[in-house]
Amino acid sequence: MAVQVEYRQLGKSGLRISVPILGCMGYGTPQWMPWVLSEDKALPVMKAAWDAGINTFDTANMYSNGVGERVVAAFLNKYSIPRKDVVILDKVCYLTTPDDISVIGTVRPDLLKTKKYVNKAGLSRLAIFTEVAASLERLGTDYIDLMQIHDWDATVPVEETMRAFNDLVVAGKILYIGASNMKAWQVGELNAVAERHGWPQIVSIQVEHSLLYRPHEVETMAYALYKGIGVLAYAPLNDGNLARPLGTRTQRTTILEGTPFAKNPSSSDEEIIKRVQQAASKHGWTMSQVALAWSASKATSPIVGAGSPQHLEQNIFTSKTLTGEEIKYLEEPYEMRGYRWG
Ligand SMILES: NC(=O)c1ccc[n+]([C@@H]2O[C@H](COP(=O)([O-])OP(=O)(O)OC[C@H]3O[C@@H](n4cnc5c(N)ncnc54)[C@H](OP(=O)(O)O)[C@@H]3O)[C@@H](O)[C@H]2O)c1
Repeated sequence: MAVQVEYRQLGKSGLRISVPILGCMGYGTPQWMPWVLSEDKALPVMKAAWDAGINTFDTANMYSNGVGERVVAAFLNKYSIPRKDVVILDKVCYLTTPDDISVIGTVRPDLLKTKKYVNKAGLSRLAIFTEVAASLERLGTDYIDLMQIHDWDATVPVEETMRAFNDLVVAGKILYIGASNMKAWQVGELNAVAERHGWPQIVSIQVEHSLLYRPHEVETMAYALYKGIGVLAYAPLNDGNLARPLGTRTQRTTILEGTPFAKNPSSSDEEIIKRVQQAASKHGWTMSQVALAWSASKATSPIVGAGSPQHLEQNIFTSKTLTGEEIKYLEEPYEMRGYRWG
């Protein structure tokens, strides 16, 4: 049997997740973003993950405007995988437009002012209830294991948001609550309000984190560690920059060039990428295994994307650990940077 992944407890919660988690942002429809795989191409990658022991899948309502969630449902259905055997991580907050798949909700704030979408995004009770119901329908399930608040919404009282999540937990539609893209004080505020009311608290925080992007270590990750909140590291390969030799371009990097989503390596990043390549050749690992082993030494689990069964297999890093000296060497050229967003 091929190498199987390990499982870790998500912070202080009793939930156990796989290491790594499969990121499903790239599965849905290329109508949303050109590099996204349609169902027929995505399912074999997801099956390769499942065969390697990955039981945890991270999606969001906005990925391919709902089609991403439908692909997760199709995966369980096609391979007759019992719902209780997988852990589904979903997200709610950003605008999702199932009637217009090509929209990227995060860059269309104008739509939030229209009659159709005015109550369809953000963290109001109405938006949360409407959007979670839609996610459950698309996923073809009665419950979501971990529903993550995709981002902070300063326009809605925290009590309203956390009461809505409490009520969804009580109704059995959500089992655990997570947060994403937040500062430490925001997570602290959500949990302080929940604690005051005896409501369930945030058990995990999902942030962008890799050898090339580490601003969240200073506040959010330090806070999570102190409080026993699980940390899920997204983009651990920095869109693939840490998984291939310097200068390699892909369809995704080419399309993103010049947009706010582009992740262009700086000169210190280039030095880190070279060191990842050196470590990979020293150990006989893939570069992605080096980057993911580093990630798993800092976070509860990396959330990694893969566009083919081959890439997926190259991202299994069970029993591959870096020494303290190796970690120090990989980190040495890093120059602290500000947050990409907000
Ligand atoms: N909370 C949030 O706001 C947020 C934001 C972004 C992402 N996420 C989550 O994080 C997940 C991962 O994010 P991501 O896709 O941006 O970052 P990533 O996993 O760091 O990078 C994925 C990229 O790496 C490439 N890659 C993967 N394995 C490779 C390998 N073995 N060799 C060479 N290239 C490889 C992929 O190319 P191929 O397609 O060619 O394999 C793809 O372009 C998402 O799916 C999503 O679940 C969350």
